[in-house]
Amino acid sequence: MKSLTSNPGTSTYHPNAAVVEVQNLVYAYPNQESVLHNISFSLNRGDRVALMGATGSGKSTLLENLVGLKQPQTGKILINGIPVEPRNLPQVRRYIGFSFQDANDQLFMPTILEDITFGPRNYGVPKATAIDKARQLLADFGLEAYANRSAHELSGGQRRLAALASILALEPTILILDEPTNGLDPAWRRHLAQVLLKLPVQVMLIASHELHWLGKVTQRALVLSGGRIHIDSQIQPLLQNGEALEQLGLPVDW
Ligand SMILES: Nc1ncnc2c1ncn2[C@@H]1O[C@H](COP(=O)(O)OP(=O)(O)O)[C@@H](O)[C@H]1O
Ligand SMILES: [Mg+2]
Repeated sequence: MKSLTSNPGTSTYHPNAAVVEVQNLVYAYPNQESVLHNISFSLNRGDRVALMGATGSGKSTLLENLVGLKQPQTGKILINGIPVEPRNLPQVRRYIGFSFQDANDQLFMPTILEDITFGPRNYGVPKATAIDKARQLLADFGLEAYANRSAHELSGGQRRLAALASILALEPTILILDEPTNGLDPAWRRHLAQVLLKLPVQVMLIASHELHWLGKVTQRALVLSGGRIHIDSQIQPLLQNGEALEQLGLPVDW
């Protein structure tokens, strides 16, 4: 697929571009000092990346910029070579599966089954196909019995799994997850890691403070500190460097 649209004036897919490219991004909340100063990095096919940083370091803010929910003051974000700008958002979002830090922001239909079929139905997937896929995802996440319940009848961890199922139903090529293990017990954290490792996505970017879990799921770490990417390295050596982690505000759990 070379061109995703024939509309004049809209951008086209660039097969050789980085999957995600961030150039000199600066972001400030209204009337505040900037939270992100001059952030640059790129993510390529096959990258599974941890976004680390102390609470309040700007992880969620950065992810929301990447998916166009927030607009940077300066700098550029390209997804498959396409600038993340309001006019390109429908196209860019077709590639991205994004889970909010708060799963409640993602589930809004009367039942979980409808939450999961909503996206695919919107993109024209036949009802029976969408329901089959949703039931398979519900089974993957141990939620078969909850298909016809509403999100507010689920536990926090179950809501998170249901939100993930609703994202995966769209078969994204770029998966961006904000604190996906929140509310999950160790068995489900492990199961989620196993599910994520099997997904055929091109790029995964996961913000989390669960260092050990990140070490199982990702290969590369970006560490935000003081509004900048302080470290961009392989994750394993970083996880073994307790002193560096401590200095970055990421003390190993105790
Ligand atoms: N809506 C907002 N308005 C003003 N400041 C905000 C808002 N949301 C987050 N912040 C501030 O931006 C900084 C980064 O927050 P956030 O991106 O949520 O960090 P993290 O996800 O790493 O915990 C924090 O100092 C936080 O207080
Ligand atoms: Mg956050």
